[in-house]
Amino acid sequence: MSTRERDWYQRAGVRGGPRRRLTDELDTGRTFFPTALVPYLDHPRVAELGEASRRELLARHLFQYLDFTAQFETRVVNRATERIAGNRCGVETGAEVRLDAYRIYCDEGYHSLYSFDVVQQVARASGVAPLPYDFGPFLQRLDAVGTEALPYEPALAQLLQVVVFETLITAVLSDIPKDPDVLTVVRDIVRDHAKDEGWHHMFFSHFFRELWAQESARSRGRIARCLPDLIRCSLLPDLRPVRASLAAAGLAPDVVEDVVHDSYPPASVDQGIRRASRHAVRLFEEVGAMAVPGGAEAFEAAGLLP
Ligand SMILES: [Fe+2]
Ligand SMILES: [Fe+2]
Repeated sequence: MSTRERDWYQRAGVRGGPRRRLTDELDTGRTFFPTALVPYLDHPRVAELGEASRRELLARHLFQYLDFTAQFETRVVNRATERIAGNRCGVETGAEVRLDAYRIYCDEGYHSLYSFDVVQQVARASGVAPLPYDFGPFLQRLDAVGTEALPYEPALAQLLQVVVFETLITAVLSDIPKDPDVLTVVRDIVRDHAKDEGWHHMFFSHFFRELWAQESARSRGRIARCLPDLIRCSLLPDLRPVRASLAAAGLAPDVVEDVVHDSYPPASVDQGIRRASRHAVRLFEEVGAMAVPGGAEAFEAAGLLP
């Protein structure tokens, strides 16, 4: 099915999906977030905090994921998608592509809305308050990768951020809908989200092929060498909110550092990045990004090749 054929008006979540609501499930033992995706949860220093703290840590992990999503969709994905839709992206596209970009813009705005909606619902019902979340440092890091590699082409860097992110397949999107231990409202919104993202994945893969075809050889080299860092930057665990949550659970600063250090060993972080980026890496390989000077070396150095 091509992106054109999909009937967005019938199937997009923003068009026909119901508002997802938290039911009276909080006392049934369902979890806020899959415990397997919260690496610090079983650390001995965390385990000894007791069941109530563990519950709060899981709720805050969910809030952080949803807060991140709400910010990322509007501030990163839609920043670039709006350029495509408005014909200001530097890539020549037809009207159909622009129409699809406006559809994605609506999708992403809606993903932000329900992410924030569920934070509010769960916080109210559970009594666990979300910690303040600042997306700024993550965004600055992501933008710095583009500014360094493509200093005179901020629009291109922003497009690449989105191509990368929209072709990643994170464990959260693939695993949560299937996990019967997780709150239904959480599984529902992640399933809704993953469904839309399947279509976005196709759109941005196609868009990247167009972009690549229109770039000069020189520019392709710069793009190829920048992609691995964008992938890593998008997928590296954001440890700032993790530290804040552990501190809020009552751990002293040095213990927080020990827990973070033990829970995110570089080898398993790298493995997670490789797994989530394998489709993106295959796309980049197919267009020839590994064949340009320095391309394969950059992917190798970032630990992205099997
Ligand atoms: Fe999205
Ligand atoms: Fe998307």
